[in-house]
Amino acid sequence: MEYFTYRDGAGGRELFAEDVALSQLAEQFGTPCYVYSSAALIDRFRAFRQAVGDALVCYSLKANDNLAVVRCLGGAGAGADIVSGGELRRALAVDIAPAKIVFAGVGKTGGELADGLDAGIGQFNVESEDELHLLASLAVARGVRAPVSLRVNPDVDAKTHDKISTGRAEDKFGITFDRAEALYARAAAMDGVDMVGLAIHIGSQLTSLSPFEAAFSRLGDLCRRLRTTGHSVSRLDLGGGLGISYGADAPVDLHEYGALVQRTGRDLQAAVTLEPGRWMVGPAGLLLARVIRVKENGNKQFVIVDMAMNDLLRPALYGAWHDIQSVAPRPGDEAPVDIVGPVCESGDVIATDRAMPELRAGDLIAVRDAGAYGAVMSSSYNSRPPAAEAMVHGGEAALIRPRLDYDALLARDHVPDWISGP
Ligand code: LLP
Repeated sequence: MEYFTYRDGAGGRELFAEDVALSQLAEQFGTPCYVYSSAALIDRFRAFRQAVGDALVCYSLKANDNLAVVRCLGGAGAGADIVSGGELRRALAVDIAPAKIVFAGVGKTGGELADGLDAGIGQFNVESEDELHLLASLAVARGVRAPVSLRVNPDVDAKTHDKISTGRAEDKFGITFDRAEALYARAAAMDGVDMVGLAIHIGSQLTSLSPFEAAFSRLGDLCRRLRTTGHSVSRLDLGGGLGISYGADAPVDLHEYGALVQRTGRDLQAAVTLEPGRWMVGPAGLLLARVIRVKENGNKQFVIVDMAMNDLLRPALYGAWHDIQSVAPRPGDEAPVDIVGPVCESGDVIATDRAMPELRAGDLIAVRDAGAYGAVMSSSYNSRPPAAEAMVHGGEAALIRPRLDYDALLARDHVPDWISGP
C-alpha cells in the first residue's frame, strides 16, 4: 500500500502521488498544498475493516473533515464519529447514514444534541450526568428516545503524548469508572433514553497494544457487572487511537489489533463500534511545499519553506516528527538542515538537523503522513491563507479545498462604522 512513490524520468527521480507528478500539482494548485491519494484512503479503510471483522467502523472526522475525504470513506462503507454540530453537518452532507453516526465529546451543547436527535443519529456517547439529563429532556420534548452509550474513563495510561492521552483519571474525558455503574442504572430508568452500551477512547497515536488490552478488559468487567444486575449492554464502542509510523516508531500491527477487537466483541457478545481517525487518513496525505530560500546563520543551515505552523501545527505543538522528502532529490551527499516556515515564532520549525539532499530556492518538499490532524488544525496565523487541498485518483487530480485568496481572508472581518479610521 504505497501511493506516494519515486519514479524515474528524463529529469531524474521524482515523487508522484498515484500517477500524478507532485511538481505538476504544485504548478496547478500552488503551494503549500495538501495532497491526498483517494486509492490510499479507500485501501486503508478496506484493510482496517477486514482486520476488525464485523465491527462498525465510524471514521473520526476530526482527523480530516474535508468533504471529499469523508465521502471517499463513506462510499467505501464507513460511518462517522463526530464531535460537533459542524462535523454532523459534514457527515450528513456526504450522505453518511445517520444510523452510522456516533456523537462523542465532553462539551456537546443543547443545540448540538438537538441537531443529533433531529437527524436521528445512531449513538450519543454521553460523558457526564448533566449531558445525560439534557439529552433526555430534549428527546422527551421531541417524543423520541436517544440511543446512549456511556463513555467511561478506564484510568489507563495510553503511553502516548501527554496532550493526546484521554483515558487517565485526571483527564477531562469520560465518566469516572467507579461511578459508571450507578449512572448506567439511573440512565436506564430515564424517559427519552435507550441505554445501548459503553464507550471508551484512551488516546491517540498508540504504538503498543497493551494499553488497549488493559482498557478493553476493564470495559469488559464493567459490562459483565452491568449485565449481572439485569442491564442490557448490546454495544461496545472501543474508540480510535491506533497509531501509525511517522518514521522511527513502530506501529501496532493492524492484525493483532483487529484480533483483539474481534476477541473482545466475541467474549462479551456485543456489537463493536470503532472510531479510527489517524490510521485511516494519516499516511494517505502529504503536505507539498516549496523552498523560498536557504539561509545560513552561524553554522546552521535553514531551509525556509512556504508552509508553516499555521498549515501543519503538529511539529510545533507536539514536537511531532514527520518524514520529509525532496520531491526531485538532487544527486550528492545529504547534509543536516533545519526546515522552517516563515511564521514569526522560533517554534515554527518543521524539522531540526534533518539529513536532506541539497535543497535550493524553488525546490519542492513533501512532508509525509500529514493526512490526519494537518489541514483540520490549520489557521490563518500571520494572515497566511491556509494550504490548499487536492486529491488524486489515478492520473486525475482535483482541488478539494481551494486556498482562500486575500480578499476572502479579509472579507471574514467586519469593521464597525463607529471606529474612526486614520
Ligand atoms: N474518538 C475520540 C473520542 C477521540 O477523541 C479521538 C481523537 C478519536 C476517536 C480518533 O483518534 P485517532 O484514531 O485519530 O487516534 N491532534 C492530535 C490528535 C488528537 C486526537 C484527539 N482525539 C495529533 O495531531 O496528534
